[in-house]
Amino acid sequence: MNLEVNLGGIKLKNPVTVASGTFGYGREYSEFYDLGEIGAICTKGTSLRPKTGNKAPRVCETSSGMLNAIGLENKGLEYFAEFDLPFLKKFDTKIIVNTFGSTVEDYVEACRFLNKLDIDGVEINLSCPNVKAGCMAFGNTYEGVKEVTEKCRRVIDKPLIVKLTPNVTDITQTAKAVEDAGADGVSLINTLMGMKIDIDKRRPVLANNTGGLSGPAIKPVAVRMVYQVAQKVKIPILGLGGIVSGDDAIEFMLAGASAISIGSGNFIDPYVAPKTVKGIEDYMKKYNISDVNDIIGKVEMN
Ligand SMILES: Cc1cc2nc3c(=O)[nH]c(=O)nc-3n(C[C@H](O)[C@H](O)[C@H](O)COP(=O)(O)O)c2cc1C
Repeated sequence: MNLEVNLGGIKLKNPVTVASGTFGYGREYSEFYDLGEIGAICTKGTSLRPKTGNKAPRVCETSSGMLNAIGLENKGLEYFAEFDLPFLKKFDTKIIVNTFGSTVEDYVEACRFLNKLDIDGVEINLSCPNVKAGCMAFGNTYEGVKEVTEKCRRVIDKPLIVKLTPNVTDITQTAKAVEDAGADGVSLINTLMGMKIDIDKRRPVLANNTGGLSGPAIKPVAVRMVYQVAQKVKIPILGLGGIVSGDDAIEFMLAGASAISIGSGNFIDPYVAPKTVKGIEDYMKKYNISDVNDIIGKVEMN
């Protein structure tokens, strides 16, 4: 069986990747399994300069999901290059570095830095809902997404993926902007803006008041958006949002995703990613499919 897929020039041994911010830089999960079993690791969002995060509490559980407002805390790209990248290079998997900034120039500088590193691709996050100034400001409109993507494209020879927010009226517009600006792929979705209130304290549970909703609760929204975007653009889609099994992954691929990513699911079961690879294989055996690429976009509408 062939499980290899091509995500905008990044050849993945299988379609399963792990999502930014839910897998750190792989250290903790490497104690559970060989990270070489999965197609790629999307790193925690890492900015040019170190960044502090929001006040705690920064996460809470919700029905079939969770809210987070971490605020993109990270140690910066220089630290990543010196300490995290050499660790990740030990594994036979692809490394996609997720980055962001608070100005367009920050994004470009981060991409310039990343272009010199021994990594397989860059994912720029135009969708973080939990930081006051910043990427959300560019991620909402066709023009904003096109401008950042075009400027990053100019300084990056490596595969460039742009991660979109679902907190817009029509995600196909921003996806089209990514394609028109010359990116190699688009990833969707990031978290949906949400809020949880402690009824005894009459206050929001998160110190940030609002946060991003993720996990199985958002899966139907994500599948719908992947389908809609697949009808509008030709560049490959990295689909995510609530995936916790091989069957979930297949749903995203039928909707049009060339590869998938698992986020919050890692918190429920640290083995979820390799189990999802196995689940995809089981589906292929059940339906006698020899090449996983034959599933991509093959949903038949009623
Ligand atoms: C705790 C946490 C931290 C996250 N940090 C990032 C981040 O740094 N950069 C990013 O692009 N997405 C970040 N995300 C979003 C996820 O990568 C993913 O898009 C989202 O959670 C939906 O997938 P899921 O339902 O499988 O979790 C984060 C999500 C969570 C739950």
